[in-house]
Amino acid sequence: MTDGKKVLFSGMQATGNLTLGNYLGALKNWVTLCDEYECFYSVVDMHSITVRQDPAELRSRARRLMMLYIAAGIDPEKNCIYYQSHVSAHAELAWILNCLTYMGELNRMTQFKDKAAKHADNINAGLFTYPVLMAADILLYQAAVVPVGVDQMQHLELTRNIAERFNNIYGDVFTVPEAYIGKVGAKIMSLQDPSKKMSKSDENPNGSIYLMDDPDTIMRKFKRAVTDSVGEIAYRDEQPGIKNLIDIYSACTGCTPQETVRAFEGKGYGEFKPAVGEAVISVLRPLQEEFARLNKEKDYIDSVIRDNAEKARRVSGKTLRKVMRKIGYPDRIF
Ligand code: TRP
Repeated sequence: MTDGKKVLFSGMQATGNLTLGNYLGALKNWVTLCDEYECFYSVVDMHSITVRQDPAELRSRARRLMMLYIAAGIDPEKNCIYYQSHVSAHAELAWILNCLTYMGELNRMTQFKDKAAKHADNINAGLFTYPVLMAADILLYQAAVVPVGVDQMQHLELTRNIAERFNNIYGDVFTVPEAYIGKVGAKIMSLQDPSKKMSKSDENPNGSIYLMDDPDTIMRKFKRAVTDSVGEIAYRDEQPGIKNLIDIYSACTGCTPQETVRAFEGKGYGEFKPAVGEAVISVLRPLQEEFARLNKEKDYIDSVIRDNAEKARRVSGKTLRKVMRKIGYPDRIF
């Protein structure tokens, strides 16, 4: 803890085109958390290579994600945004924690099972130990809180177990992190199949709004969004398409779902869908403009990357040195 603020850690992968779901579900809240916490937000490129990546593509996506963090409003002077691969402590602590994690624990991870099924031709050891690297990310910064989606809760629980195990064996070194519970982001579903999460890896581009979609594309996708034949704008599970549109509209305008329903009482889908499109366009416009501006500021972005990596190395290095000492690595007397 520095400045008396609690430390918060989270990370995002730079794979696929980021969607409105990533923004409303995570990034937008990350920005608001910056006031209350000392935030470390990583572009977790080491996690990305658990699945085969095109090198040039990975590099350019990672940089775009970094710019997006800034464009979204995370102040790189007050918080720390950095590439995981720029800070070697992550790999070093991950190895140590690997030796404190049981095969049985990792075997229970549902995300591993899902990903192994999806990438049957490349079930590598990194995919298996992925949650251990994630634990290292969090524990290196002594994070007290970690905002994650439900799909990452099992990994966070494992992180807590590993931290407690280490502390029990070697004495207190790690802060045991909690999941951030508070106003979590909206869970945004696909516009084409509201039973599925809006995903950056969706094959159907009409299901997702990409953060860089232009206004016409956004409007077209909303007009085509799958709804139902009920014809009533109501917030209920039986109308998942409309429910999703209400969630999107509410997240963009700051209304509650109930307020949104009231605002559109008696109106038809033909009126509601374009209104949701407009709300999304006005949220994404400033983000896109800021992104375009930053895209021309190469030196500035480079300096942010360098300075923030330095800060991340300094903070994580402190924890790593303590850990190395505790587990009996030889002192570095040189
Ligand atoms: N595994 C996370 C995801 O795919 C990303 C991630 C990596 C992360 N390290 C983290 C999230 C540490 C929170 C904290 O969404």
